[in-house]
Amino acid sequence: MIIAIDGPAGSGKSTVAKMLAKHLGIRYLDTGAMYRALTWKAMQHKVNLDDERALCRLMDQTKIHFHYKEKGLLVFVDDKNVTHEIRSPSVTNNTHYISSKPGVRAVMVNLQREFALEGDTVAEGRDMGTVVFPDAEKKFFLDARIEERAKRRFYESESSNNENSFDGVLQEIELRDQRDTTRKESPLKISADSIYIDTTDLTINEVLHRIIKEVEPLMKNK
Ligand code: DC
Repeated sequence: MIIAIDGPAGSGKSTVAKMLAKHLGIRYLDTGAMYRALTWKAMQHKVNLDDERALCRLMDQTKIHFHYKEKGLLVFVDDKNVTHEIRSPSVTNNTHYISSKPGVRAVMVNLQREFALEGDTVAEGRDMGTVVFPDAEKKFFLDARIEERAKRRFYESESSNNENSFDGVLQEIELRDQRDTTRKESPLKISADSIYIDTTDLTINEVLHRIIKEVEPLMKNK
């Protein structure tokens, strides 16, 4: 069984996807972390982020894997733990170079499908319901007003001592929305069969419970 969760930055999808996977006792796939991981490695190796062939070669030589801990998800590139590094502002700002390359996406999509072959999965990203898992049993699209999404990111970054201003965070999110929705390859969009949830005025637990209500009948039928 695959549960696909898509949505823009700050929509709450990562937090909810993690909690949902835990609640259901199934696997969690953070596809954004995979694009971030390759971005981190490309930056370390000073690969030209516009050179698709070089990035595909690098991807072939890269092993991305996850470890699941009680406290959260650990992300490894080859054997290095890069859980924190891949969330840095420079990686966040450069990931669009990687995620816009069709050759890189093709490899990522294969890896994501292989991951889901190994067991029931909550898969989270931008193109889970539209491209990677078009036959997912349930699809959700989480969204929220941009000011609310920026507010969430601002408080998150404040707790990690990031010195970005609220307006700076808002502008970054606007730019990421624009890049995610207008790129040629697998842009962020709502698939016709997904359940749309506006999380602007909802708590994480309220979002989670709405999703659980939709998904639990599937678990009972298994
Ligand atoms: O969800 P996130 O912020 O960790 O995603 C990081 C970047 O990767 C973001 O710029 C969009 C991109 N991404 C993508 O293109 N396709 C996915 N399935 C997941 C993320």
